[in-house]
Amino acid sequence: MSYNSTRESAAADHLVPGSSGSALTDAEVAERVDALIAKMTVAEKAGQLTQYFYFNLPPSEEIEETLDADFSRQPEMVEAALSEGKVGSLLFVTDPGEVNRLQRLAVEGNRHGIPALFGFDVIHGLRTILPVPIAMAASWDPAVIEQGQAVAARESRAVGIHWAFAPMVDIARDPRWGRIIEGAGEDPYLGAAVAVAQVRGFQGEVLGTPDRIIAGPKHFVGYGAALGGRDYDEVNLSDSELWNVYLPPFKAVVDAGAGNIMTAYMDLNGIPATGNHWLLHDVLRQMWDFEGFVVSDAQAVRNLRTHGFAADLTDAAARAIKVGLDLEMAITDPAYAHLPEAVEAGLVDEQTLDASVRRVLTAKVRMGLLDQPYVDEDRSREVLSDPAHREVARTAAQRSAVLLRNEGDLLPLTSPGSADHAGDGAPAPARGSIAVIGPLADSRRDTLGPWVFDYKLTETVTVLQGIQERVGQDIQVSYAPGIRPAQRTYPSMFDMWGDNAPIDPVDFDDAAELERAVTLAADADVAVVVLGEWQNMIGEAASRSSLELPGEQLALLQAVAATATPIVLLIMNGRPLDLRWAAENIPAILDIWYPGTQGGAAVADLLFGDVAPGGKLPFSWPRTVGQVPMIYSHTISHEPDNQGRRYWDEQSTPLFPFGYGLSYGRFEYSDLTLDRSSIQAGETVTVSVTVTNVGQRAGDEVAQLYIHQRYGSASRPVRELKGFQRLTLAAGESATLRFPLGPGELRYWNAATRDWVIESTAIDVFIGGDSTAAQTVSFTIDS
Ligand code: NOJ
Repeated sequence: MSYNSTRESAAADHLVPGSSGSALTDAEVAERVDALIAKMTVAEKAGQLTQYFYFNLPPSEEIEETLDADFSRQPEMVEAALSEGKVGSLLFVTDPGEVNRLQRLAVEGNRHGIPALFGFDVIHGLRTILPVPIAMAASWDPAVIEQGQAVAARESRAVGIHWAFAPMVDIARDPRWGRIIEGAGEDPYLGAAVAVAQVRGFQGEVLGTPDRIIAGPKHFVGYGAALGGRDYDEVNLSDSELWNVYLPPFKAVVDAGAGNIMTAYMDLNGIPATGNHWLLHDVLRQMWDFEGFVVSDAQAVRNLRTHGFAADLTDAAARAIKVGLDLEMAITDPAYAHLPEAVEAGLVDEQTLDASVRRVLTAKVRMGLLDQPYVDEDRSREVLSDPAHREVARTAAQRSAVLLRNEGDLLPLTSPGSADHAGDGAPAPARGSIAVIGPLADSRRDTLGPWVFDYKLTETVTVLQGIQERVGQDIQVSYAPGIRPAQRTYPSMFDMWGDNAPIDPVDFDDAAELERAVTLAADADVAVVVLGEWQNMIGEAASRSSLELPGEQLALLQAVAATATPIVLLIMNGRPLDLRWAAENIPAILDIWYPGTQGGAAVADLLFGDVAPGGKLPFSWPRTVGQVPMIYSHTISHEPDNQGRRYWDEQSTPLFPFGYGLSYGRFEYSDLTLDRSSIQAGETVTVSVTVTNVGQRAGDEVAQLYIHQRYGSASRPVRELKGFQRLTLAAGESATLRFPLGPGELRYWNAATRDWVIESTAIDVFIGGDSTAAQTVSFTIDS
């Protein structure tokens, strides 16, 4: 699939084609909504603007303390509120029977029979779990991303969920921040492409498309730039960073028709994002004409008081709704319950409430809720077990993997039934036995990654299983974890739920297990070692002060490496890890991320060359935590030739650059040309390049186009991504690609003029397989 280039332009092949969408015209929707509003009291309006979590969890004091909420009474309290018409929306209900039961309470609980909108964190799949979002971004394949979220939407809609709190489109430049896993990494251009693909996957062509749900891009805005990478901490961003880096993915999803936006928790430049007039009113509504509804992050309206911004909950509610925050997400005791009081006291006028109610009800009407609030439980079972969904997940996991190293063409491994190993011409040794080593190699829960709740572990294929199933009886596969799981020093609230935290086995003999792993590796023809972070170490509330492999993993790797058996290292992660030792000592390294339900099967496909890896890094991979934040698109400063020598004790370049990834083919770029050498501001120049697979096997490449503005009224980054295309080429095959560079790519927000500009300047264009691409050509912009 191409992005801003023209070799292929076929529309994504939707699994579920969907219809033309909601059958109602805008006028008909408005008529139904206005008729309801006209009959509603202020209290009923406040109810429509309130969203509750519905948690049916075993009582836990720790969770209650963390969330500052009375959990044991939560279900009872929410059910009472539903019956009294005080709830417009619910989240965290995924069982269709429960959806129907609670929906009935909602419909019967208000005089107008208005159903509740059910939302959920459908981040990378509901029942069929896709690779984590950062992995999907690493595919650089918008079609696969769209298809994945279409599957997630179909499963969600089948159980009665109308709305996903996704995609997370926050730019993440500091891998200490755990939620880097939920986004598309460091780059606004890639981030926007990935975000738009997800919105299309969730929503289809228009809101109300059958089998699709509302997309809720989040967290508006800047959440990924938390000080020190510490989740929820304050964010301070320059105007230039906001307009050129952090806002563009949001602008792209608004333009793509996203039905909802979620606000961020933290202060942005000293003002809480959830009460920020400039952000929610001036930018989102006035400049961008966003017509959907805005939801707060959980408890974020109440938090306006915690921030030292609002005086009390009434003040918090009044100020939030006045800036355009339509729906409050609450656990207990919502601030919006004070809206009637605020209206009474003259802090808010009723028209302001009406505007928000209108946006929420419009979403309900568009989603067809007023006509069919209930869900067909039998159909939901069929949809959830659709094998086609698992195929989509397998393809997504194949396309997400990033090959970081492949010395001597160790990969692909040969096996009976796999294509002959071509490598450097020498046949690889027959692999008669494989030792699979590492505590993540056979962990179903970790294979899925964080931010999933409705998975089935029995449907999950681990790396060990995937390899066993792929090789059958012909190759002997042994397995040892080698070490016990590492544990978090400070557990999060997610560790207290279900099976999220790894179990520390009591009867684990550390010395004997390590020795067993080393012996198995020594006796095998190849060792596949699976290391990384346990899934509870990344995600929300999972920031980290180090990037080292947790626990005894490096020691395990070094002990296995001492056997002289060739090693393929598989990394399970959502952030870059300190791989300095491995990058020098381990011949093959494949980043498989948290690959999801079909992860192990996809990994086996890649290891044995049934498909070639072709993913590319969506972030710069630092050598060590001391380098972060680190970005490829930095501006040029004093002594640029010493860019790699900024520290005295370590190189200041990344271990692997942004956009990097190998394949089983080898690619050369040639004939980089422009259709003209100068343009006027506002015109478009077309860049052409030929990519040839000069290797001996088929492979995937992502051709990437970067620009650099040489001079102007502000400094511009040394490189900026402005086009990419993933392609599969057989050995010896070539393709010619064309990338347009027009106003959309050449303009930027200028801190000197405080506006968008296209300057008279010279632009260098670079094309290649990563952000260090060498092929270059230039043109001028004259005005
Ligand atoms: C808090 C998270 O920040 C947000 O991303 C999520 O959607 C809500 N909780 C609901 O679970």
